Amino acid sequence: MKNKKKFIKIAIDSPAAAGAGTIAKSISKHYNLLYLDTGKIYRLIALTKLKTKNKFNFKFLKKKIKHLNLKSLENKDLLSDEIGTEASIIAKDINIRKLVHSFQINCAYKPPKKFNGSCLDGRDITYKIVPDADFKFFVIASSKVRAKRRFLELKKLKKNVSYSSVLKSIKKRDKSDYNRSISPLKKTKDSILINTSNLSKRACFFKIKKIIDRKIKY
Ligand code: C5P
Repeated sequence: MKNKKKFIKIAIDSPAAAGAGTIAKSISKHYNLLYLDTGKIYRLIALTKLKTKNKFNFKFLKKKIKHLNLKSLENKDLLSDEIGTEASIIAKDINIRKLVHSFQINCAYKPPKKFNGSCLDGRDITYKIVPDADFKFFVIASSKVRAKRRFLELKKLKKNVSYSSVLKSIKKRDKSDYNRSISPLKKTKDSILINTSNLSKRACFFKIKKIIDRKIKY
């Protein structure tokens, strides 16, 4: 009989631009996991709101969300700083969170058969979306390091931003994400803290891989 690989679920929470997405992507590729950047869902809703203006209400969004798929999250317009800020405002709405809950659950627990599991990152993944994850990580970095990384990313995308404006918006988003009453960003007791401030992408990848390989033997 063929040796079936164990289905693994990885949950990552982190503040903006701490490097969670980069880690999640490389780890997902390595272990053949479905990767979902849940922040993109809130960003897509924010973009929809800005684009549709007067038409935007809960009923309208409910219809739109029915067509939500991974492809729709690849839109480059989702990456701007303004959309990130708007997303963090929208993400405080409990009804909007409920609306996108099942999409995240499906990705985490029922990814297409070709995958060996799932890896989701966001703000409430370790305690709300995938509380029984096999691996939980809380990824952080100093706000200055995060602002520098985000600034360089946005520059690459030819966005007209300054380092100080990016730092300001990261701090604003932290304040909102950590302190909101609905699904705040927090480190659960069973999450492993990864501080990426002084780590290269490669070092982050190997640090996490070592933790995973110690527990699972492929
Ligand atoms: O991760 P990203 O910076 O793209 O997320 C944008 C915003 O979406 C966050 O600042 C946060 O307020 C919200 N978000 C959330 N829950 C998640 C993922 C993102 O509230 N699981």
